[in-house]
Amino acid sequence: MNEAEYFQHVEATRPQRIRWWQEARFGMFIHWGLYAQLGRHEWVMNRERIPVAEYEKLAATWHPKERPARAWARLAAESGMKYMVMTTKHHEGFCLWDTAQTDYNAVKHGPGRDLVREYVEACHEFGLKVGFYYSLMDWHHPDGANCAQDEAARRRFLDFTQGCVRELCTNYGKLDILWYDVSWPLKSPELWESAVMNAMVRELQPDILINNRSQLDEDFGTPEERVTAEKAGRDWEACMTFNGSWGYMPSAIDWRPVREVISMLRVAAAGQGNLLLNIGPQPDGSVPEEAYARLNPVGQWIEQNGEALYGQVERADGRMEWMLTGQWTIKGNTAYYWCDRWPGGELAIGGLQTNVLKASLLATGAPLAFEQTENRLVLKGLPETNPDQIAGVAVIKLECASAPRQVLGAGCVVL
Ligand code: GLC
Repeated sequence: MNEAEYFQHVEATRPQRIRWWQEARFGMFIHWGLYAQLGRHEWVMNRERIPVAEYEKLAATWHPKERPARAWARLAAESGMKYMVMTTKHHEGFCLWDTAQTDYNAVKHGPGRDLVREYVEACHEFGLKVGFYYSLMDWHHPDGANCAQDEAARRRFLDFTQGCVRELCTNYGKLDILWYDVSWPLKSPELWESAVMNAMVRELQPDILINNRSQLDEDFGTPEERVTAEKAGRDWEACMTFNGSWGYMPSAIDWRPVREVISMLRVAAAGQGNLLLNIGPQPDGSVPEEAYARLNPVGQWIEQNGEALYGQVERADGRMEWMLTGQWTIKGNTAYYWCDRWPGGELAIGGLQTNVLKASLLATGAPLAFEQTENRLVLKGLPETNPDQIAGVAVIKLECASAPRQVLGAGCVVL
């Protein structure tokens, strides 16, 4: 198929391919590579100008413990995540899988085994969809930089890149997501041969989703370190660090609190987007304690409140207003009010344009008494303090007579 036909094919097949992903909402990003041993961020080779020959020594000293991916996948599943994306090769160029494209890989060096295969098996074991991250930029490959100036080098580097991608799409069974990163130094998708490469990917993996970092839009956008909805009609996934570094970095101590993770999930859901939250495992593959300490409660919270999060949510912007005691997600005729600043025995919501048929606490199903007058809904007899013991975010479920909408404007009621 030619390029125009390729793009048409991507559009035409997307609704079916992307449905699971649109409902999944929450995924785990794993950044793991040689850099974990240095513990100073995955850009350490570049930022500290470590010579290739010196950095390469890290390949011999890397000795991960047995099957650490099982613990990641277990944690992901227990935290309410539905898919994972792992770095098969980051910018450092070290391949975590058994590749014929370079000896600089996990099988031929320290680990002595295929870490990507272990990861895929762990995803299967815990019922998670499988995503591969692949960095186009490569600081180790001899042509990774000069491919921008030298045509022969570009050909060699593209053959290497396409060879890697082909292996990843051939040797590990069904793959759900291909997550490209940094397309330096080539300045156009034509120079990268992105359409050709991605057509190959789709031939090998017809149901796959591809992100937008090979300089083509493909299936979804990837806002980074900010959870902001991309324009309507465009699927998006916010990728977020947990502590400001993607790779393991023990000195990065500002871990996002539980409430912030829950808030990010709400913003994602209210914008019909996803959250891909990162963990940088330690050199031996262990998940940092700080991640457990936050994700365990997040998982418990989602267990009780997942209905407000998963599934075919609708965009709340333009439909619902900003509020003082909480924020919204909506689905069909139901509005979910994520109350994170509990007001006490009564909670009032102005401007709802639909009749509320039933109000309840999502976590327990307990019905809530309410009075609705024109422009004002008042929930009554509530506990004095936030009933959510996990994170102080109680979700109030409002089942309505029609699709919820809220109109407040800036004025007040004139009596
Ligand atoms: C950036 C960084 C990279 C990280 C990625 C995740 O592009 O270069 O280190 O893997 O973001 O989105």
